[in-house]
Amino acid sequence: MMDLFSQIEEPERDEIRALRKELEEANYKYYVLNMPTLSDREFDEKMHRLQDLEARYPDMFDPKSPTQHVGSDLSRKSKDKSSKPFETVRHKYPMLSLANSYSREEIEDWVRKLPSGVEIVCELKFDGLSISLWYEHGQLVRALTRGDGVQGDDVIANIKTIPSIPWRIERNDIPDFFELRGEVLLPWERFEALNKEREEQEEPLFANPRNAASGTLKLQDPREVARRGLTAYLYYMLGENLPGTTHYERLATAREWGFHISDAIKVCHSVDEVMAYIAYWDTERKNLPVATDGIVLKVNNLAQQEELGYTAKTPRWAIAYKFPAEKQLTLLKEITYQVGRTGVVTPVANLEPIQLSGTIVQRATLHNEDFIKSLDIRPGDRVWVEKGGEIIPKITGKENLTAEGGLTDERSCSETVLQSEGRSFFPTKCPECGTPLVRIPGEAAWRCPNEAGCPPQIKGKIEHFVSRKAMNIDGLGEETIDLFYQKGLLHNIADIYDLKLEDIAAQERLGDKSAQNILAGIEASKQVPWARVLFALGIRMVGETTAKKIARVYTSIDSLQWATAEQLCAIEDVGPQIAENIVKYFEDLRNLEILDRLRQAGIQFEGEASPFRGNEGVLAGQSIVISGTFTQHSRDEYKTLIEANGGKNVGSVSKKTSFILAGENMGPEKLKKAEDLGIPLKTEDEFLKMIQ
Ligand code: IVH
Repeated sequence: MMDLFSQIEEPERDEIRALRKELEEANYKYYVLNMPTLSDREFDEKMHRLQDLEARYPDMFDPKSPTQHVGSDLSRKSKDKSSKPFETVRHKYPMLSLANSYSREEIEDWVRKLPSGVEIVCELKFDGLSISLWYEHGQLVRALTRGDGVQGDDVIANIKTIPSIPWRIERNDIPDFFELRGEVLLPWERFEALNKEREEQEEPLFANPRNAASGTLKLQDPREVARRGLTAYLYYMLGENLPGTTHYERLATAREWGFHISDAIKVCHSVDEVMAYIAYWDTERKNLPVATDGIVLKVNNLAQQEELGYTAKTPRWAIAYKFPAEKQLTLLKEITYQVGRTGVVTPVANLEPIQLSGTIVQRATLHNEDFIKSLDIRPGDRVWVEKGGEIIPKITGKENLTAEGGLTDERSCSETVLQSEGRSFFPTKCPECGTPLVRIPGEAAWRCPNEAGCPPQIKGKIEHFVSRKAMNIDGLGEETIDLFYQKGLLHNIADIYDLKLEDIAAQERLGDKSAQNILAGIEASKQVPWARVLFALGIRMVGETTAKKIARVYTSIDSLQWATAEQLCAIEDVGPQIAENIVKYFEDLRNLEILDRLRQAGIQFEGEASPFRGNEGVLAGQSIVISGTFTQHSRDEYKTLIEANGGKNVGSVSKKTSFILAGENMGPEKLKKAEDLGIPLKTEDEFLKMIQ
């Protein structure tokens, strides 16, 4: 008998372990990496299943299970105080999550457990990330992310860039301390503009405004945060001696104090009223400037809220209702293949147009060959297209009947052969220039290696070179570049500097005036600083920020050209792959020829000497830990000095550490570890002498 029971139990116990692992990973990908892998609904279904199973197997209780705590957005470096970008602070009141519901029945179930005649406040559920604002004597003193619910990152410098968040409340009727919680959001318009910019720079796009807001809030450059244009809505006031006896009154008070509170708040007295509110906002939310993904229902009376209390993860006095993701079935007419600036071939689904969340969708990315294989889709299939909280439509699966009524698993013989050989419809040759494609081991993408001869790569490189964040040459847009390429005027970035007034003016649509503008833009680009020139060259994986970091260490192209991969790896953010790309770039004679022509044209191949300009390479290849307090420079300045001299600042001591830049009161743990491993310590003076 026992055996029979254990045979039944074992798979369920395994399932508990598997679900815990899957949900932990999903939490990490959602909160830390900003790359959600499960839809909210899938996540909730798996979480419920885990809760059920854990209730059946109490002996498997584990306080670390995802059922026992909320996901965490703490920055990954949280254990390493010395290099942590934000201060981690304990919340005064835990920041909990909300239980989700998806139907009238689930809302009815929840209402049934509340005192009869209860008032329910309905609010929009904003789809951004939660923030907790602390006000002391009217002054904003902290702005914490949710983190793991117990402690969060203080991102106040970034929060202060949000115009609707007051830095100071000048009133004498406010308590000494209060906290306002709300949601930080990137409005749709800003999100689309940001993604457009990223597309132009071939940087990965944000899947939705929530991810974009989260990525933005964790930036370390508040000016960039300000430029992106975050906004915030506040929805919950906490503290002692606060005015009012209901949640609704508290929000009205917060509004009076100058906080940005949504107008879409309604006190409801029945489930019918709640459902009417939901029905209204499910349509109307499409006209809002920010993303919403549901409705939040809260018990209005604060005394009743207190009585109802909390579970480990959520308040019992509130629940979220999630809007269903919009999903439609349509015909996959054709798969086309797009070649980008770096030669990556991206499959694109061309669909029979459908209406989704107010926009017409006719194209969706299929990412790469593995994605097509995992969904097992091909032209003629009927596919599900979804647009949940995400602006970029996704293909999430296929229907088993093809448009002709055949079953997709009765694929034609040749297709089956293709599949069984592990190949899909993916082309083997570049759709633009016919060169055989290559797939770099470890990468998902197929690439056309014909950098210098493949038209979209040639044009893409020129477009990148002239783009706003690179050489910023006005007047040379995509169409003009295409025209000049067709007419044989442009083949590479150096050709730009050989363009003549008469050649440009002779083109259709371009008169003398436009030609002069273009030439003025080209002339002005000769003043663009070295860091941006380096970015403009379009070396694979060298984005704007990496280029800046490299240019700070290698202050001229001549020094960079001779840097080894090992030396390059010592620069912050430069890993082996980027280092190899840089080395390869300078090994290619065609690039050297182009660089020579750019130099003759007068491009800035040398940086300005900065106050922290380094004696390049003195610290090349060295990993240096900074510990303790200093008198001559700040920690940040020492970090810059290390990087400017070719070294790498690392957070923790290991056997790879070259030395420790040790100030006063060095941490005892670091000191012990350094002694154990025999890592030398250098004082401020010794360090400054080293780098002169
Ligand atoms: S109330 C203790 N109200 O939804 C409950 N949350 O899925 C505090 N959210 O972590 C939250 N709009 O980030 C509340 N009107 C609203 C909201 C809202 C969005 C977020 C919040 C919360 C998450 C739970």
